[in-house]
Amino acid sequence: MASVIAFVSQKGGVGKSTLARALAREAAAGGLRVKVADLDTQQGTSVDWHRTRMDAAIEPSVSVESYKTAAQALAVADHFDILILDGPARTSQATLDIAKAASLVVQPTGASLDDLRPAVREFHALVKAGIPSGRLTFALNRIGTDAEEADARAYLGEAGYSVLSGCLVERPAYRQAQNGGYAITETRYAALNARADALIQSLIDATE
Ligand SMILES: Nc1ncnc2c1ncn2[C@@H]1O[C@H](COP(=O)(O)OP(=O)(O)O)[C@@H](O)[C@H]1O
Ligand SMILES: [Mg+2]
Repeated sequence: MASVIAFVSQKGGVGKSTLARALAREAAAGGLRVKVADLDTQQGTSVDWHRTRMDAAIEPSVSVESYKTAAQALAVADHFDILILDGPARTSQATLDIAKAASLVVQPTGASLDDLRPAVREFHALVKAGIPSGRLTFALNRIGTDAEEADARAYLGEAGYSVLSGCLVERPAYRQAQNGGYAITETRYAALNARADALIQSLIDATE
């Protein structure tokens, strides 16, 4: 049975697909059998990215497929070491179904209070619905400065949740990489790749 790692948030654009793809890329590079289940059937962004990656023949190849529900994705979990659920930005019900299926639920968030408050409310709702808080963790994205990262970390820690070590800074190069079918660990800039890799490694550590 695969480890099932889910990326969720009510908001779009926070980095769910970005992190899902990077995790898949690093897991595949490490020789693991990995599948990304793109549950955002309206957007299908990871499916599109996968097509771009295949057309450009970028190695390692990663497997991405669209599924309507977490349950449908889980049905194929036996064939993989890691099943990554790339969630939609939508209802709490869909998020709860995804969270129930996952051994680790990652919520990417920005550092502003406008981002942090609803993000914490989302995890509180999952805990209230019976998901153990130890299975929930935050990933900080679009960070500007070390001070901003530290403040966001403190806020989320006080709310009672873990935060992955490492974070993603806001950089056009991350967008450009993904536009071309690459992951955020495969940009043209070694320092940016290393930062992204540190975050992904802490995610892999959290699943073990
Ligand atoms: N740290 C970052 N710096 C620059 N662009 C980013 C960063 N994180 C995500 N993006 C870009 O923001 C957009 C939305 O990210 P995405 O991962 O698709 O969000 P979600 O899946 O949560 O809707 C994408 O174009 C992505 O390339
Ligand atoms: Mg997405």
